[in-house]
Amino acid sequence: MVVSRSTHTPDWAEQLKAGWTLPAHWYTDRAILEQEQAAIFDRTWQYAGYMERVAQPGDYFTCRCGNVPIVVLRDADHQLRAFVNVCRHRASEIVCGAGKALTLQCPYHAWTYGLDGSLQGVPRRDRELNFDQSELGLIPVKVDHWGALIFVNLDLGAEPLSQYLGAFPEVMLSSGINFETLKYRGRTEFELAANWKVVAENYLECYHCLPNHPKFSHLINVDPDAYRLRAIDNTLVAQAPLRHAPNSDSFTPYQTAGEVKESLFTLLFPNSAFDIMPGCGNLTVYWFIPIAPDRTYGVFEYFLSEEADSEFERQFTAFQDEVGEEDVALIESVQRGLQSGKVPHGRLMLDSERLIQHFQNLVWRSLT
Ligand code: FES
Ligand SMILES: [Fe+2]
Repeated sequence: MVVSRSTHTPDWAEQLKAGWTLPAHWYTDRAILEQEQAAIFDRTWQYAGYMERVAQPGDYFTCRCGNVPIVVLRDADHQLRAFVNVCRHRASEIVCGAGKALTLQCPYHAWTYGLDGSLQGVPRRDRELNFDQSELGLIPVKVDHWGALIFVNLDLGAEPLSQYLGAFPEVMLSSGINFETLKYRGRTEFELAANWKVVAENYLECYHCLPNHPKFSHLINVDPDAYRLRAIDNTLVAQAPLRHAPNSDSFTPYQTAGEVKESLFTLLFPNSAFDIMPGCGNLTVYWFIPIAPDRTYGVFEYFLSEEADSEFERQFTAFQDEVGEEDVALIESVQRGLQSGKVPHGRLMLDSERLIQHFQNLVWRSLT
């Protein structure tokens, strides 16, 4: 695969190492997004949803790997399966949202597929010659889970999920959370006027936190010596303590006393992020999917431990949403700046932004 390179920067591996960012046009160019689809979104493990959504045979939900619609389901034999959610007739999406069904029926001309993906019903089939429906099953997708978290991968030859996750489970377990006790509490969906990489890169540094997230920076110690960064292959981690003892002042936006002592922000390359905040058991899964070079769809899914009451839930999700909204303004501003083309390469502050450098290296290596 060949990517277009800036004419005045001959060796991009060296430039990235020195702290220069990927070219601005990588954030605006449709051809680059197409290459990212083929090299990244078609080939990596990405978060899809949680196990409770497919607890019983026939339960299904939809998700995407970049521009590819996917359905994840539990079949009649209780096996977890995933398929490309595109009809083999003329490519309508088959199901949307989530639900429970004995078969998957395409809404366009009513072709019907079994939960094992086989094509089982085709109206007017008896009027066709040489129609072999056994060749027209749904396209399978690799699916696996870590605890309650389900991941999918379009590449049937991809390495197993456990291998791809690498350090991710150990990092998550180091938070002290008993993941078994977490229960789904709700979700927020949104669209951003920015390239998906701007969204990832904003997530990967807290250099911007002090001037932009006053409540967050009062709660979490974002000073460079306290806010620790680690990159282990596909797992990019930021970890930081509370600034003050739990709930020691009236500014604390939610109850921070509990089993989790430190915040932990983990991005699993390319686009699945997992936030754990101090306090009682909590997990916010945040993932973002490119819609266009300058548009990204994002989702927050909130999980809290069983003992978290509705007041905690209200305060906690309001706090997370407020920080998220502060980020949207920053992210969209960066996209407008990149689109100007007047700053073809940014210059990272490598002490505080080295996770961005690691992320950009992963993108770069994937495309070259
Ligand atoms: S596109 Fe699905 S049945 Fe025609
Ligand atoms: Fe932020």
